[in-house]
Amino acid sequence: MAVVSFMTTKGGGGKTTSATLFASVLAEQGASVCMIDADPNQPLVAWSADAVCPETLTVIGDVNEDNIIETIEEQSEKNQFVVVDLEGSANLSTGYALTQSDLILIPLQPSKLDANEAAKTLKFILRQGKSVGKSIPARVFWARVPAAYVTRSARDIGSQFEEAGINFLETSLIHRDAYTGIFNYGRTLENLTNDQVPSLDKARANAASFTSEIISLLKEIRK
Ligand SMILES: Nc1ncnc2c1ncn2[C@@H]1O[C@H](COP(=O)(O)OP(=O)(O)OP(=O)(O)O)[C@@H](O)[C@H]1O
Ligand SMILES: [Mg+2]
Repeated sequence: MAVVSFMTTKGGGGKTTSATLFASVLAEQGASVCMIDADPNQPLVAWSADAVCPETLTVIGDVNEDNIIETIEEQSEKNQFVVVDLEGSANLSTGYALTQSDLILIPLQPSKLDANEAAKTLKFILRQGKSVGKSIPARVFWARVPAAYVTRSARDIGSQFEEAGINFLETSLIHRDAYTGIFNYGRTLENLTNDQVPSLDKARANAASFTSEIISLLKEIRK
């Protein structure tokens, strides 16, 4: 089992979208995956209520500081992967979830505002790790970036993070209508159709690369 949490204090940064892509690609490949919806707005609970998705994917909501650790532990015993979609605030419940994670992924868009929030999130992760005497692996990744080119601001922000020793995932999540389509149509990428969203093949390939890079990273972390 592995626990992967998606976190940034930046609202609308891409946590729920990227967590769902990762979880649903794995579930479509046959892995048992539990998503924990730790956002009080419960977007994943609402999505899963009538979404067309594989039986190997379950979503659990209603978590709080009193039960999040136990919920993660319990679901880790039952599933190969636990994917936690955190709310965008550095509170007790979020902190507990981070301490239970094997890997934390921080979505970042090429703006100074997002970069500041990602830096804040990294400091919070560092403190949470110290509080339990461990260093919790974390990676930043570009979420929702335009296809085909890297903007100057993305390059600048990227180099600042790298100079500070903060690692990026190699795979960026591209801005794709298919990713919004998952929620608009209540489906996974696998069962969306070409008449619903454009460039579905490209979206599937991008989500698959994103997922396989995370899996390789988890294997490396375990060594
Ligand atoms: N790669 C992408 N391509 C297209 N749209 C995207 C992508 N990533 C996110 N979005 C859209 O951006 C918006 C915010 O994304 P999302 O809800 O995943 O962010 P969040 O960090 O979970 O937000 P919150 O802080 O509210 O929990 C949504 O409308 C989502 O559909
Ligand atoms: Mg969200």
